[in-house]
Amino acid sequence: MNGKKLAGEKAVEYVENGMHLGLGTGSTVYYSILKLGELVNEGLDIKGMPTSKETEKLAKELGIPLIDESSVSELDVTIDGADEATPRFELIKGGGGALLREKVVASISKRFIVVADDSKYVDPLGKFPLPVEVVPFGWEITQKQISKLGCQPSLRQDGNEPFITDNGNYILDCYFETIDHPADLNVSLNMIPGVVENGLFVDMADAIVIGRKDGEIEE
Ligand code: 5RP
Repeated sequence: MNGKKLAGEKAVEYVENGMHLGLGTGSTVYYSILKLGELVNEGLDIKGMPTSKETEKLAKELGIPLIDESSVSELDVTIDGADEATPRFELIKGGGGALLREKVVASISKRFIVVADDSKYVDPLGKFPLPVEVVPFGWEITQKQISKLGCQPSLRQDGNEPFITDNGNYILDCYFETIDHPADLNVSLNMIPGVVENGLFVDMADAIVIGRKDGEIEE
């Protein structure tokens, strides 16, 4: 069974006619967006705010109307994936490099629904390297400051070049091994000059929909 598909499709049950939605990024929420596209074609009236250029392209291809981000202050529901999630709803996100837009969109959502297969459900966080978006200027300085928080950061590559986010920044993937105090680390990281945002999402998720290989769904 494809746990990602199970979770992605199940989460669409949170969507109602007339809603404004945040559309996450990645291979799990992909199934939610496909399902939403089907429902829109059958008459569902929704609008979506994409969290990446990749999701914007997919939504357009599927005919999902988009929200003008300059005029939105609140979203009803956002569905998005995660790289790690704990029973306390702490998340690591940004494996796809979209963490900044994902956090902006999640922060204005009345309900933030996370979709994942059971391989993502962990406790504590930290095996997955934490993505941190940094400005290209002086990124080596920022990297040194981040490493003082107890991790090994490495610059994400795209072939032989640095990976560039949709916002024109770099990503440092930071290997902590375990993250015991994600709320504190979230604040400490974002106080370092040069850090734009980090992939820790704490006190943001309202539900986690986990699709298991045996075909079961946990919420
Ligand atoms: C992208 C993300 C994704 O939601 C996260 O990487 C999970 O992706 P996938 O569903 O493909 O495993 O945060 O920035």
